[in-house]
Amino acid sequence: MADRAPFLPENDYRDTWCGGVLDDLVGKKVRVAGWVNRRRDHGGLVFIDLRDRTGIVQLVFDPADSSEYFELGHALRPEWVLSAEGEVVRRDPETVNPEIGTGEFEVRVSGARILSEAETPPFEIEGFRSEVGEEARLRHRYLDLRRPVMQEAIEIRHRLVTEMRSFLDGEGFLEIETPVLTRSTPEGARDFLVPSRLHQGSFFALPQSPQLFKQMLMVAGFERYFQIARCFRDEDLRADRQPDFTQLDIEMSFVGIEDVISLNERLMAHVLSEMGVEVEIPFPRISHDEAIARFGTDRPDMRFGHEVIDLTEVLRGTEFKAFGGVIEGGGAVVGINFGPRELPRAQLDGLIEEAKELGAKGLVWAYCEDGGWRAPIAKFLSDDEQAGLNQALGASEGDLMLVAADSPPVAAGILGGLRTRLAERWDLIPETGDSLVWVIDWPMFERDERTDRWIALHHPFTSPAGELDPDDPGSARALAYDLVWNGVELGGGSIRISDPDLQKEVFAIIGIDEEEAADRFGFLLEALRYGAPPHGGIAYGVDRFAALLAGFDSIRDVIAFPKTASGNDPLTGAPSPVEEPQLRELGLTRGGAARTKPADG
Ligand code: AMO
Repeated sequence: MADRAPFLPENDYRDTWCGGVLDDLVGKKVRVAGWVNRRRDHGGLVFIDLRDRTGIVQLVFDPADSSEYFELGHALRPEWVLSAEGEVVRRDPETVNPEIGTGEFEVRVSGARILSEAETPPFEIEGFRSEVGEEARLRHRYLDLRRPVMQEAIEIRHRLVTEMRSFLDGEGFLEIETPVLTRSTPEGARDFLVPSRLHQGSFFALPQSPQLFKQMLMVAGFERYFQIARCFRDEDLRADRQPDFTQLDIEMSFVGIEDVISLNERLMAHVLSEMGVEVEIPFPRISHDEAIARFGTDRPDMRFGHEVIDLTEVLRGTEFKAFGGVIEGGGAVVGINFGPRELPRAQLDGLIEEAKELGAKGLVWAYCEDGGWRAPIAKFLSDDEQAGLNQALGASEGDLMLVAADSPPVAAGILGGLRTRLAERWDLIPETGDSLVWVIDWPMFERDERTDRWIALHHPFTSPAGELDPDDPGSARALAYDLVWNGVELGGGSIRISDPDLQKEVFAIIGIDEEEAADRFGFLLEALRYGAPPHGGIAYGVDRFAALLAGFDSIRDVIAFPKTASGNDPLTGAPSPVEEPQLRELGLTRGGAARTKPADG
């Protein structure tokens, strides 16, 4: 990080970054400040590794140089804060430390001040991967964040956001803030609610996204808007989800799908290039249906093959009930050829268990052998069927095939899920090359089996492609697009509905009648009546983007103060109970809302 060391104004504490103690300073006197990373007593000398944001430098306390400061050096403990000065010298060749950037040099201390003492940290700061549990790391997050790997992750995030801002500013976008205390915007998750003291019984919702505000900014004539926006969603957490997270939110007027996609490809190419990742534009596109059929997911990782192959036609009419029954019932049999991979029986059985975790009723494994199948179920399939399956799957001698049968999207989804899980385990992903792909042609609606209603697959403000047939919502396609990077959904957006009547039609299909629409979204419908330009946009998950760039599996590692996987903050103890008087002031009781009468009513 030393090459990015910011300008350092000289003062009493320091005039040089630790990471900046290099060749050009040999023979010169420097003053450095930072945290004691490590202390070693050796041969009558004390060696201190001093750490600041830019790196580590070795300080040498020698009684021959100064007995006063030697004593001080001896007293130092890990994480004490120190300012020290002395001459920079070149180390003896045998004591050079290639692990650190300043490893050829050291500072011979001629003066030092302890600025702050530290209790023994609950875990080691040194090292790149902390083996400490997450709860402990988050409980003392300020210590966890001292680790160089975390400092780097936060810096990567900063650079990412800075490049996004600078590109969009150059393209004439205005950064505009939208409210955090607002009304619910449906993005498919539950809202976090904030009780109003002045309007008791009424609640603000924290925004799941700035969707409706950015659309109203287009009605307002700003034409090109962006925001680094905090969003809040009360949903079940995963490694790539936090209850509060950050979006790069973008909206543009007088645009169609091609305009939005092309602007975003240039944005991506610029940002990624600045972050050291070169990508070619335009990015490939794949329709939603094709993504499901070939990869079993709407977030296809196209860095590697092993695609899902439909085997239904090969097996139509088979005597084998497990496949034949599914096919007769309108289902599909699908398979993936994972190439030559001899596995012990226990591991093959383990795959069946994993498939069941993904919702499969079962999973069939088979090896291609002598032109047929070696598999527990081989005896149920004719020679022709076995040969046909090998041909459809492109299998050669020794290849492992996994096969599932279910309704078409479920069967593909199970194999797609396994494909994703096995990619790393079996090293299927080539070292180089990133896959950025647009998933387009989304269905507008999907049937929610639980409530037996149509729901908007993106959000209900997304424009349909062409006419809507209210009698057949399932056939409608949306002008929506997702950007998927190496199998991760980085962002998604759409062209919006700018006609209030069409917006009402869409609401009606998803079961929001005129009255409810007027109550919940009247302000939007009204705004659309005052001259709404055609508009569209996108939002990216900044946390996900930064995690991918920094090489972390969890977005928690690129958020300075994240919540745990169970949605709490061990550092501050949030969420926490509140005292009775505070509840009363808000018109709440421990059992729920006390009154519904507005204070000014
Ligand atoms: P969407 O809901 O797809 O779209 O969100 C956009 C992107 O935000 C990220 N994301 C999250 N990141 C971390 N934690 C979460 N809980 C979380 N939820 C979403 C993802 C996702 O791709 N208003 C629309 C955008 C638009 O139509 O312009 C929206 O919010 O990376």
